[in-house]
Amino acid sequence: MFAIETRGLLRISGMLIMRCGIELSHHQSPFGPDNAATGTLFPLGSCWGGLHRFRYELGQYGITLYQGRSTVPDRLWSLLLDQTAVKKPFIDVLSGHRQAVPPVWMMRQAGRYLPEYREVRSRAGGFLDLCFTPEFAVEVTLQPIRRFDFDAAIIFSDILVIPHALGRGVRFEVGEGPRLDPLDTPDKIATLASQADFSKLEPVFEALRRVRAELAPKTALIGFCGAPWTVATYMVAGQGTPDQAPARLLAYRHPDAFTGIIDVLVENSIAYLLAQLEAGADALQIFDTWAGVLSPREFARWSIEPTRRIVEGVRNVRPDAKIIGFPRGAGALLPGYVAATGVDAVSIDWTAEPALVRERVQSKVAVQGNLDPLALIAGGAALDQAVDDVLSAYAQGRHIFNLGHGIQPETPIAHVEQMLARVRAYRG
Ligand code: CP3
Repeated sequence: MFAIETRGLLRISGMLIMRCGIELSHHQSPFGPDNAATGTLFPLGSCWGGLHRFRYELGQYGITLYQGRSTVPDRLWSLLLDQTAVKKPFIDVLSGHRQAVPPVWMMRQAGRYLPEYREVRSRAGGFLDLCFTPEFAVEVTLQPIRRFDFDAAIIFSDILVIPHALGRGVRFEVGEGPRLDPLDTPDKIATLASQADFSKLEPVFEALRRVRAELAPKTALIGFCGAPWTVATYMVAGQGTPDQAPARLLAYRHPDAFTGIIDVLVENSIAYLLAQLEAGADALQIFDTWAGVLSPREFARWSIEPTRRIVEGVRNVRPDAKIIGFPRGAGALLPGYVAATGVDAVSIDWTAEPALVRERVQSKVAVQGNLDPLALIAGGAALDQAVDDVLSAYAQGRHIFNLGHGIQPETPIAHVEQMLARVRAYRG
């Protein structure tokens, strides 16, 4: 057991501040080597939540904090410093380094399959109230991390918060999915605001800051937005439809007007993603759930090109930004998407062909996916087989284990545990 005196506590707090990104201006006394040398305890204030977490992490090394006078050996400090520079396996894969055990998380990991989510959801009232109340959003973001220790948390929000901030009257009807004011004629499109009201999204940024402060250093935090095409499909039809025909028709009939919607979404998505990075996101995912309904020409125009512009716009400000694209259903168009957009990783659905993905996609970027969410519902031998198939197809390369689309509400929790045990036992 080691003990740490006040001065040590100050050093740890300093490291913690660096890790949490907590602004020093929140503290009443200046912090730095000078006042650390006085041995006085400065007010930690807003840092306490994080400090409790850090105290827990230190406990894992057999270290306790107290205000006594014992000293700490140098080699322990280097251990502590290493701890502050802890690697995130998820980010390592996005940076080009394969992991022997692939990092794992699940799309829609905070959701109705969890009883603790359903409990908070019923207290929150509406779905947007859940997204825009930081206390609730933080809690449901962290629930799957506590239960399953995933390698990444994804901030709890929705892709439709951008249309909401553009004033498009977004509602979530119970059991029916999202409803918006339809934007289905050139005249209506001409009235679309060009600039989202980002003050409406401030609770999302606040939730990101709080989640980052609560997460262990090894766990990455993902921010996200919808790709312009997918968001536009909901804005045009005013709801989800089986094949998003209303947006496809509008794009053929009135490409200039449709370009107007896409351009607004590109610009506001860049600003939104940058603000999420600023608030503490370690990586970003762009969800293009409806990419697979487009013909190759339309896919290049409405999925690839707007995504490329978003990636470029984010990297102009944050050249190191790690970005995952998810063009669901892109199939044979995946290599072109990866080459043109510049994403660091691509999330693939379960219909992807492994040889094509390995040779023409994973040779260039990391691959995330692609367990069939229905195999996760089925469980048993079918689930084991499906997990093994994913691992043998992709885990020899840069791979993040995930589902091919979001986890479904009826999925048994025991099946998630079965999947995780199998993935974590893998040594490639
Ligand atoms: O855990 C996470 O992945 C983070 C949260 C998240 C949600 N939506 C929460 C949510 C994320 C990343 C999304 C993305 C999203 N939202 C997409 C792209 C990914 C995908 O799943 O295809 C899309 C198309 C949407 C739009 C949307 N939001 C739809 C079509 C629906 C209704 C369908 C449904 O599952 O009910 C939503 C609602 C929604 N977003 C829920 C959740 C947990 C369920 C609402 C509830 O709890 O009542």
